[in-house]
Amino acid sequence: MSNIRNVGDLLDHAHDERSRQSFVSAFRKRILMDVATDMKTVYDKKVEPKFVKKHGRKPKDALEVRAAMRREPVFEGWSSMRYNAQIMTWWSVQPAVERQLNELIQAARDARDANPAGGTLELDPNVVIPREVTDLDVHHMPGCFHTEYAADDVAQGAVYHYGTQVFYGGFGKDVKPKGDVAMSIANYLKLAYPDLKPQRILDLGCTAGANTFPYKQVYPDAEVHGIDVGAPVLRFGHAWAEAEGIQMHYHQRNAETPGFPDNHFDIITSSFFFHELAVPTTKRVLKECYRMLKPGGIMLHMELPPTEATDTYYNFVLDWDGFYNNEPHYQKFRNLDFTKTLVGAGFAEDKTEMIRIPNYGSTPREEFTAVARGEGTLKREHGLGRVWFTFGGRK
Ligand SMILES: C[S@@+](CC[C@H](N)C(=O)[O-])C[C@H]1O[C@@H](n2cnc3c(N)ncnc32)[C@H](O)[C@@H]1O
Repeated sequence: MSNIRNVGDLLDHAHDERSRQSFVSAFRKRILMDVATDMKTVYDKKVEPKFVKKHGRKPKDALEVRAAMRREPVFEGWSSMRYNAQIMTWWSVQPAVERQLNELIQAARDARDANPAGGTLELDPNVVIPREVTDLDVHHMPGCFHTEYAADDVAQGAVYHYGTQVFYGGFGKDVKPKGDVAMSIANYLKLAYPDLKPQRILDLGCTAGANTFPYKQVYPDAEVHGIDVGAPVLRFGHAWAEAEGIQMHYHQRNAETPGFPDNHFDIITSSFFFHELAVPTTKRVLKECYRMLKPGGIMLHMELPPTEATDTYYNFVLDWDGFYNNEPHYQKFRNLDFTKTLVGAGFAEDKTEMIRIPNYGSTPREEFTAVARGEGTLKREHGLGRVWFTFGGRK
C-alpha cells in the first residue's frame, strides 16, 4: 500500500450527511425486505386469488402481475418509497463529492503520476458514448457515468463509489459493493478450471473497477483490463487501484468496438452491464467478445436472471427497475433466449454456459468449492446478492 491519498476513502462526510446516509441504507433495507414481504402477502392472499377467480388461471407473466398489483396501496407505497430511496441514495453523497471535488481530482492526479502499482489509464476523447448512457441518468444517478464538470474530473466515479456503499449499506455481510461478484466469479473459475492460467482478462463496463480488482487478486500473474465509456469513472478507478496497490489497465473504449486483437483474452467478464444495453447492442458486444476470446478461453458475465428462470411474481419484482429506475432495456434483456443469443455470437451450443455462482464471501467454503467442482448443488436458489446468475461460454 502506497502513501498517496486514496480516492476510495478520502471523502469526509459531515455529521448530517452520515445520518442521511445511514437513514437511506436502513430505509432501503426496510423497503426491500419488510415492505416487500408485506407486498407478497397481499399478492398471495388477495391479488392472486382475485385474479384466479376472474380469469380461471394464475397470471401468465410479470406484466399481468403488474397490472393486477398496480393500484394496490402496498405496491404504490413500496414503489414510491423505492423510487425516492434511489434518488436519496445519490443525494446523500453528492454534496460531499461537490465540496471536495478539487481534493479528489488532485488525489487522482497524484496517484496517476506516482503510479505505484504500475497500472495504466488510456483515455479517448473521441470515444463514442452510446445513447444507453447519454439519453438518461441510468438508475437515476445524476450525470450518469460520463458527465464531466472539471478538468481531470472524477466526480461520477466518486458518486458511484460512495453512493453504492449507501445503496448496499443496510444489508450486512451478504451484500457488499466491493467486488463480491468478481470475487465469486474469479474464485469459481479458478476452482472449476484449474488448468486455466490466464494471461489476459477483460472486464466490460467496469465503471470504477470494484468488480475488476478481484481478478488481479485471484490471478496475480494475469494482466487485468477494464473498459468503460465514462472517463470520470475510469480516472477514479485508476487512482483507487493505484492507491490500493492493484495493477489495473483501464481503457476508455466502447464495448461495441473495443479494438483489441482477435484471440486476445483468456477470460472476458462483466457485472451488472448487459441489462443496461439495448438488445441489438448486447448482440454486437457478445460477437466482439467471441472474437477477442482465445480458443479455450472463457466468457462469463454476471447478470439478472432470465425471465424464464424465475417465477412470475419474482419477475414482476425484478422488472420494477425497467419501469421506474431509468433502466429501459431491463425486461427485453431478461426476456432473451440466452442460449440462442450466445450461439448467434459464435459460441457452439454445447459450450454455452448458464451458471448460478454462490456468493463467495458469504457461502461456506466447502459448499462453494463443491458447487464450483460440480460435486455439489447450490443450497440457496435465487436472491440477488447470495447467488449470482452468470451466462457465457467457452471458445
Ligand atoms: C452498472 S454499470 C456496471 C457496474 C460495474 N461493472 C460494477 O460492477 O461496479 C454499467 C457501466 O457500463 C458502461 N457502459 C455502458 N455502455 C457501454 C459500452 N457500450 N461500452 C463500454 N462501457 C459501457 C457505463 O458507462 C457504466 O459504467
